[in-house]
Amino acid sequence: MTASGGGLGILFKKPTTWSIFQSDRYTLELIQKHQIYTMSYFPDEYKKQVIFLGSKSGRDSHKMKEVDLTAIQTPSKNITFEEARLIFECRLTQITTPNADDFYSQEAKDYVNEMYKDVVNYRKFVFGEITNVWIKK
Ligand SMILES: Cc1cc2nc3c(=O)[nH]c(=O)nc-3n(C[C@H](O)[C@H](O)[C@H](O)COP(=O)(O)O)c2cc1C
Repeated sequence: MTASGGGLGILFKKPTTWSIFQSDRYTLELIQKHQIYTMSYFPDEYKKQVIFLGSKSGRDSHKMKEVDLTAIQTPSKNITFEEARLIFECRLTQITTPNADDFYSQEAKDYVNEMYKDVVNYRKFVFGEITNVWIKK
């Protein structure tokens, strides 16, 4: 899937990525099942493909095969794409559910309350230890 929310840093001494998932994402199910995943960053010229991967669920489509990108496997058999310029391979460390009471700016509280109006919109913060990085030169 395509994700725009997230970042990276050090968590409990480990280089770590974090990302935000709506709770009904098929990708989230796959991450929980396999506990390893990749985060791939693409040059602007692949925007169309990136938007496509964010436009329908892999739960009821074959979007990984339909997208105009070249699927490849990491040595650990994780899927990513040849066209990516930066790839993080991650091992799942933590999934948390943000709560409005944990936020201290009104804007953030309002944001969390808004997304919890509909139970489908629960968000999950997903943290993964970075186990490999590939950078295209
Ligand atoms: C530009 C863009 C950014 C997105 N960012 C996120 C995000 O940060 N978190 C999220 O849960 N969904 C995000 N989405 C929506 C998912 O990519 C989309 O729902 C996708 O179809 C989920 O696929 P899946 O059900 O196979 O996991 C984004 C979509 C686009 C187009």
